[in-house]
Amino acid sequence: MSLKTCIIVLYLAFFNLESKANYFNYPFRLDIPPNVLEDARLDTFQLIYKYGYPAENYTVKTDDGYLLGLFRIARPGAVPVLMVHGLLDSSATWVMMGPDKSLGYMLYDQGYDVWMTNVRGNAYSKHHARFKESDRDFWNFSFHEMGTYDIPATIDFILMSTGYSQLHYVGHSQGTVIFWIMGSERPEYMDKVFMMQALAPVAFLTHCRSPVVNFLAAEDAAVAFLLRATGFNEFLPSNRLINTFKRAACHDTTISNMVCESLLFIIFGFNSQQLNETMLPVLIGHTPAGASTKQMHHYGQLRNSRRFQLFDYGIGNLVQYGSIRPPKYKLENVRTKVALYYGKNDWLAPPEDVDRLSQQLPNVVYKYLVPDEHFNHLDLIWGIDAKELIWNRMLAIMKFYEGPSYSNDQYYKK
Ligand SMILES: *[C@@H]1O[C@H](CO)[C@@H](O)[C@H](O)[C@H]1NC(C)=O
Ligand SMILES: *[C@@H]1O[C@H](CO)[C@@H](O)[C@H](O)[C@H]1NC(C)=O
Ligand SMILES: *[C@@H]1O[C@H](CO)[C@@H](O)[C@H](O)[C@H]1NC(C)=O
Repeated sequence: MSLKTCIIVLYLAFFNLESKANYFNYPFRLDIPPNVLEDARLDTFQLIYKYGYPAENYTVKTDDGYLLGLFRIARPGAVPVLMVHGLLDSSATWVMMGPDKSLGYMLYDQGYDVWMTNVRGNAYSKHHARFKESDRDFWNFSFHEMGTYDIPATIDFILMSTGYSQLHYVGHSQGTVIFWIMGSERPEYMDKVFMMQALAPVAFLTHCRSPVVNFLAAEDAAVAFLLRATGFNEFLPSNRLINTFKRAACHDTTISNMVCESLLFIIFGFNSQQLNETMLPVLIGHTPAGASTKQMHHYGQLRNSRRFQLFDYGIGNLVQYGSIRPPKYKLENVRTKVALYYGKNDWLAPPEDVDRLSQQLPNVVYKYLVPDEHFNHLDLIWGIDAKELIWNRMLAIMKFYEGPSYSNDQYYKK
């Protein structure tokens, strides 16, 4: 091991030494409206309930024992929509901007039965039938297992609960990654999804500009060593490490310090024109919601390999896959109708990489690049103009493919 790798290992080893409380008890400014402060502390269920919508919560057990928190804005009998959040995010992302400003409420208001899941390892999905959160085994997963276990279990649960044979899928970022993985590894699930709406779709990271992902890619050897030496853990970068990235992410000095302190903006970038800064305490209160170090390492591997492939175990690939290199995910298996929505200034899903993905997916029926030079990864779900620019369009596409004769009964089995 080189001296440089050694230093990086020590640096990364600080990941878990500092308390997570730093993120969740943010010193809020005094001039923040009390309502916003309250929303920063409520969970997904409490937020939906507070704003007068019919909130329900469920627990879904995956085949490998994880217990996932599933929330619903319930419209029994209506067409179900499954919404899947992105990296370090949670179900709260679909409602936390409040009614009229959140995609979850909008879909409910338009007549859908809205279900919002949480992938393993995030704040709502930290339980397991056998492992505790503090067990190393609990954190031995990447996004691969979310695509092969979490989403299939969630889809089965919703279809069984509602009696439908198909549902709509809405995914953001990692919520799209794991959909492609489900298509590749569990292709029978493609028949259970009527249509896939992909916001900021990710698969290839060749042109990724995220300083954190690029750091993980550049220090691949150090991260791999750390995983082998200390086992698996939650990804919790220390303040020291965040300070390093702040310089890369926040060179504009007019950005408030609050933004630059947030891991989420450091990973995904931020756009002052689309971000409602009054809502920052809510965004920071609900993120980062948890991810594993192995999952972050897998993103670094995608960046390095320029391929959309399974986790790289190095020498262990021979045992795991029977080949030297990890197999590629089979995008050609993703048979469901797909609509893609993406921004020009997206660090994680830049247009070049979305174009490549789009060429390999067999059934892209719609592709929309937001005509705004600054539009980024998080603006698609939190942006002030997201409704006008994207969601109205998305709703029209969903209705168009449902067709005038589409009725609730058409996909209703009971
Ligand atoms: C739903 O939420 C309530 C209140 O937080 C909790 O007590 C209950 O266990 C939850 N139910 C499920 C199925 O997760
Ligand atoms: C982690 O999971 C992988 C894949 O499921 C498995 O092959 C490996 O043995 C596990 N590692 C440990 C240390 O449990
Ligand atoms: C920003 O958020 C505040 C608090 O929720 C809200 O009152 C205001 O209308 C929002 N501004 C915009 C431009 O959406």
